Amino acid sequence: MEILEKEIEEIRKSFEIAEKDVKDYQTFLKLKEEFLGKKKGKIHSLLNLLKSLPKEDKPRAGKLINEMKDFVENRVKEIEKKIEEEMIRKRREILDPTLPPLIPEIGSSHPIRKMSQMIEEIFLKMGYTIEEGPEIESDWYNFEALNIPKDHPARDTQDTLYIDNEMLLRTHTSPVQIRVMQKRKLPIKSIMPGKVFRKDEPDPTHSPMFFQVEGLLIDKGVSFAHLKGTLELFLKTLFSKYIKIRFRPSYFPFTEPSAEVDISCPICGGGQMDCRTCKGTGWLEVLGAGMVHPNVLRVCGIDWNEYTGFAFGLGVERLAIIKWGIEDMRLFYENDLRFLKQFSRL
Ligand code: PHE
Repeated sequence: MEILEKEIEEIRKSFEIAEKDVKDYQTFLKLKEEFLGKKKGKIHSLLNLLKSLPKEDKPRAGKLINEMKDFVENRVKEIEKKIEEEMIRKRREILDPTLPPLIPEIGSSHPIRKMSQMIEEIFLKMGYTIEEGPEIESDWYNFEALNIPKDHPARDTQDTLYIDNEMLLRTHTSPVQIRVMQKRKLPIKSIMPGKVFRKDEPDPTHSPMFFQVEGLLIDKGVSFAHLKGTLELFLKTLFSKYIKIRFRPSYFPFTEPSAEVDISCPICGGGQMDCRTCKGTGWLEVLGAGMVHPNVLRVCGIDWNEYTGFAFGLGVERLAIIKWGIEDMRLFYENDLRFLKQFSRL
């Protein structure tokens, strides 16, 4: 009995010391477990002592243990109440009910994805299908089949990373033209979006990886007029019906004749000397195009006396930069949310 009384006194003392250490909800839970825990709690251990006492002592011992239990339980309840009040008070201090509600962050498509979708939508409405090809491409598809033999100077402007002597990261989406002509029945009316790679230093208008959309139409009696009409409809839909379009003679080994296509600057309306987008020229180059070269048709087994076609290739970043007045294309790859969020509602 004496041992029990001593033990109860010990517990009371240790509780009074321990309760001083309670600083927050976590330390409170620790205290509660230490004294009132179902298995290892100190009060529970008193019940084990009770079992070993002689019968006549049990009623008094039971009473003492219950008193001790009530004492600890009441104190624990008081402490819990105090801690909860303190937590509410702190929360009130940082809560300003006049602020707008915290809206959870919701992701959205990347602006380059959005621009690709806008381009795709316009061509889908014109009846084009969407095709894809591999990003790791063979020298043959990327160059040779497109009328660019090994010693051709056009290879200089399209240097890339080689996997081995034959395989490389494609420098344009034009190899997908070849793949589509090989596997699809004529006529063909497709666009081919995807990533391309070039050995270019990143700067405001260059990136070693960027996105292109290729276009290819092969049918009987296709002429340059069809190419002009198609690109005019596309560019006016994407930018504005008020822009002007100009075709400049150019050179690509896989098209003949070839052209580079410019639009009048949609930012300044054309010709403002201090316009940062067109640098005062009034024109912006937007894509390359031309009639598919007979050599390319021949490689794909298409009779070029019967079928003709046009092809074009555009840079998605380039169109996005013009459409949204962006000064540096590196912004697209830096993943700065302050930049990306501006496109989340488009
Ligand atoms: N592949 C060319 C480039 O990347 C663009 C192009 C495509 C030109 C199709 C003509 C026809 O520069």
